[in-house]
Amino acid sequence: MDITNQIITRSAPAKLNLYLHIVGQRADGYHLLDSLFAFTQNGDEITVRGAPELSLEVTGPFAGSLAAVGGLNADNLVMKAALLLRSHAGIKNGAAISLSKNLPIASGIGGGSADAAATLLALNDLWQLDLSLETLSALALRLGADVPACLHDRPLHVSGIGEQIKASSLPKDYGILLVNSGEALSTPAVFQAFHADGYKPSVRLPCRQPKESADFIKWLLEKTSNDLQAPAVSLCPAIAPVMRDLSAINGAMMVRMSGSGATCFALFQTVSEAKQAQIRIEADHPKWWVMADQLVP
Ligand code: C5P
Repeated sequence: MDITNQIITRSAPAKLNLYLHIVGQRADGYHLLDSLFAFTQNGDEITVRGAPELSLEVTGPFAGSLAAVGGLNADNLVMKAALLLRSHAGIKNGAAISLSKNLPIASGIGGGSADAAATLLALNDLWQLDLSLETLSALALRLGADVPACLHDRPLHVSGIGEQIKASSLPKDYGILLVNSGEALSTPAVFQAFHADGYKPSVRLPCRQPKESADFIKWLLEKTSNDLQAPAVSLCPAIAPVMRDLSAINGAMMVRMSGSGATCFALFQTVSEAKQAQIRIEADHPKWWVMADQLVP
């Protein structure tokens, strides 16, 4: 078997749910969503190069937290993605995979899903499999509901359990500040709390998304929500002060929790406003994880 010297790097950006409505539940327990996904420019990074065996090395500020939850073995979504792709293609190729883990784990911003999606794309290239996006999406769904969406790194309207994806767009390249106070939240636990707290599937489907920025923000605030936010706060009260401090920042146009939490975000007109806000939050809360970036429009 030839081992290529090629090195391929793909970014695995953070995924934000600008809104997240739970609109139903399937017989197998999975929830039906209606959500607008947007992606940051930066996040984790996957690098792959040819090697006789499959291996995974994790570096970066959150490498330790991944190891602590036992995430460095075959259970890691990156390794699962590599093994699934290899068995689908019927090959025995290896790859040395390196993950730079810059995003906090279990935090509602799709880190693990984005890592798995980036692995599928990078290995599809490294192993010259030439699989279509459609085939990769079907494999991605077997790894997790959010993984198909993370194969794209631009705004998407997502429905079904995460597999129905339509290209969308944002009115502009908003600045964004992501903040996490350091507590991991389990997605199934948040869905359980959603039911235990008596929350009902949302019947609201927001009307057409406005194209003008001011109308878009007004629409997000007035017509949409994150239905998992209240149950997440009930499990993790530390979310409330994050929301409060983000809301107090001048220029924060909209503040919300992403996914099943606990990461919260604020949208700004520009990335420089988001960076100013980062300085302020970091000064007040040196232990919180804070990242200022730009949303891909
Ligand atoms: O698919 P993924 O592994 O990301 O989902 C983790 C858990 O979150 C699922 O086992 C399920 O309990 C819950 N989930 C859900 N509905 C979705 C996505 C996830 O109920 N659409």
